[in-house]
Amino acid sequence: MNQIYAFVFCLIALNVSAQDVSIIPQPNQLEIKSGTFEMPDTFFILYENSIEKSAAFLSDFLATNGNTVQRVHTADKANLILSHADAIQGKEAYTLSIKKDKIEITANQGAGAFYGVQSLMQLIRFDNQIPCLVIQDEPRFVYRGMHLDVCRHFFPVSFVKKYIDLLATYKFNTFHWHLTEDQGWRIEIKQYPKLQEIAAYRKETLIGHYNDQPQRFDGKKYGGFYTQEEIKEVIQYAADRQITIIPEIEMPGHAQAALAAYPQLSCTGGPHEAATKWGVFDEVFCPKEETFEFLENVLDEVMALFPSTYIHIGGDECPKTRWKSCPNCQARIIDLGLHDEHDLQSWFIQRIEKYLNANGRQIIGWDEILEGGLAPNATVMSWRGTQGGIEAAQAGHGVIMTPTSYCYLDYYQSDEPTEPLAIGGYNPLEKVYGFEPVPTELDKEASKYILGPQGNVWTEYMETEDKVEYMVLPRMQAMAEVGWTNPERKDFASFVKRLDDHFNWWDKTGLHYADKTLSIKSDFHILKGAVGVTLQTIHPEAAIYYTLGDREKLIKFQPGDTIRVTKDETITARAQKSGRQPGNRKIIAIQYHKGMGQKAVLKEAPSKVYAGYGVASLLNGINGSNEKYGDNEWIGFSGKDLELTLDFDTPTTLHSLSTRFFHGPGQWIYAPQSVEIYNLTAAGTYELLMQKEVEAGLQKIVPFEMEFPETTVQKVKIVVKRYGIIPEGGAGAGYEAWLFVDELRLN
Ligand code: ACM
Ligand code: ZN
Repeated sequence: MNQIYAFVFCLIALNVSAQDVSIIPQPNQLEIKSGTFEMPDTFFILYENSIEKSAAFLSDFLATNGNTVQRVHTADKANLILSHADAIQGKEAYTLSIKKDKIEITANQGAGAFYGVQSLMQLIRFDNQIPCLVIQDEPRFVYRGMHLDVCRHFFPVSFVKKYIDLLATYKFNTFHWHLTEDQGWRIEIKQYPKLQEIAAYRKETLIGHYNDQPQRFDGKKYGGFYTQEEIKEVIQYAADRQITIIPEIEMPGHAQAALAAYPQLSCTGGPHEAATKWGVFDEVFCPKEETFEFLENVLDEVMALFPSTYIHIGGDECPKTRWKSCPNCQARIIDLGLHDEHDLQSWFIQRIEKYLNANGRQIIGWDEILEGGLAPNATVMSWRGTQGGIEAAQAGHGVIMTPTSYCYLDYYQSDEPTEPLAIGGYNPLEKVYGFEPVPTELDKEASKYILGPQGNVWTEYMETEDKVEYMVLPRMQAMAEVGWTNPERKDFASFVKRLDDHFNWWDKTGLHYADKTLSIKSDFHILKGAVGVTLQTIHPEAAIYYTLGDREKLIKFQPGDTIRVTKDETITARAQKSGRQPGNRKIIAIQYHKGMGQKAVLKEAPSKVYAGYGVASLLNGINGSNEKYGDNEWIGFSGKDLELTLDFDTPTTLHSLSTRFFHGPGQWIYAPQSVEIYNLTAAGTYELLMQKEVEAGLQKIVPFEMEFPETTVQKVKIVVKRYGIIPEGGAGAGYEAWLFVDELRLN
């Protein structure tokens, strides 16, 4: 406490606000001193040869920034000193000291010096007065990753370098380069020229969302690949920025493009073609000798290019459909004494692991590699939640945490209707920022195996470089702080304020980003005889104004206010902050119905990730989006039926229930089987009023309505029976389908 007071006092005394130090990720120790740095005409730079690279990097930056830089060889002449210090522990640690007339960066190794340089570069870029300060900093996690899928859409070397520049600025140390997929193979392999001729291209691409029916295609050949020379260039570029590249070569699934080129490696022998739409495909590598010969040859070339210890071998989403009816696969299962196809997948991965281990490398795989037994030395990338990561850490395996609901930057980042098309989900900035990579289930010993977090960028719906930028910025910065900053130093309000300077800088450099910091977020509560609406933004310095219905009177929404709605109503709200464009206007249109303002209880809570406003999402008079299920007006259940009881304040006559369900098999979401409504009788038992099957077709929004004889009720129960287990061949086969439910309108 004392320290915080002292810090706050110091800020007030010097009239330096926290905003003047907008470094992201937040350094782990930062002390503001009195005075500000006076920008010199010339930077006289002194550095030791051991950190020459960082010094050169900084000199180039200063020169580009319009400063004159001159190397000197004695400390008395220098105003910018980069020095090595044995006393600093940790290869990524650094100190940055800024005095009125002198800047010093000290580190033990090149990585630390580079991060000191990055912190300084951020301060110089922001054009603010730079306060005198001392930073002592080092990262929380040894692994801080960002991923990029260059297969669903292909991005040239120039963009990959730009992406790496962003990673370096925000102190990531790993770039996970997803190089092979069903829709395209992107790395030149000299022994297999057909990978370049055939696997690198698809004949056309899906237009719009996968769930849109009927599916349409653009009819245009699409593709490309990186030559080995280009790959080497990118690896060097990353290494110069303290970034290791982990290449991913997918197996045994997500291999359809490779099989288009070499159909003899599939179970059926083909013919196959590179996939033209997204999803999970049945055509996978057949575990025969010819396949291993191919994969080992491919991996030989990959290892010759990439110096990283880790090679990612995929392992996710491999349907067993073909293996089940393949004589080769079935003979393998018998010969090896395996139980089933899951064991066969495990054996496949272990065989590849042995090969890579024998060559001095380690494998990383998606969490499916746990199924049928984990390869002995494998590191697990936990994406289907954190459970896989927990199991792996408890078994003493390294874990990279990248659960979809916090770390997938291809998910929607706002519920604004103008949001460009995304795969689905809802992963706003505050969610990413709030991610804690070490699950509470792990004890201290097992926690050590959590190497760090990673943000994933799957590009099905990112056709352009601009769109990738828009999707990753600023969620990448939130992820940077998750990986770098200790929990006690993290503060979301401070992060949002610090982003202002980064937005300004991105504006100047022409980067595209999603500024949602002045977007209105609404929350809903069921009150007695009303629905309560509250408004909020994530920017701590924003003011919110709104109008009702006729939009005549502008009202300021004060923290703690609740707008009580008792009839059809439209609330139009907007946030403002000085020096910024106002945020987008939010229109909340409420259509009142008889189920609102009554005591409502859900027997089973929705999934934490898709809880929306809880039961109020179902009973606030607002429909969910027609496009996306992650907008808080839809709520999602996994492995549970919806069961709602509604206790009316006074006897009420009802004759209909209508709602909508989301049907997106690609996202593991299925419309339910049926809906039932019961009336509580005077005898205290529930009597069925009506039951109706749900008829799902190909459309992603399934409207549902049931009429029943007009009945006066005091208490009703509504049951929505979920779909159940996803059938073989579908994405998520064998798992419970999700159930997504919209407003339950009672009239
Ligand atoms: C994944 O998202 N299929 C790892
Ligand atoms: Zn087979």
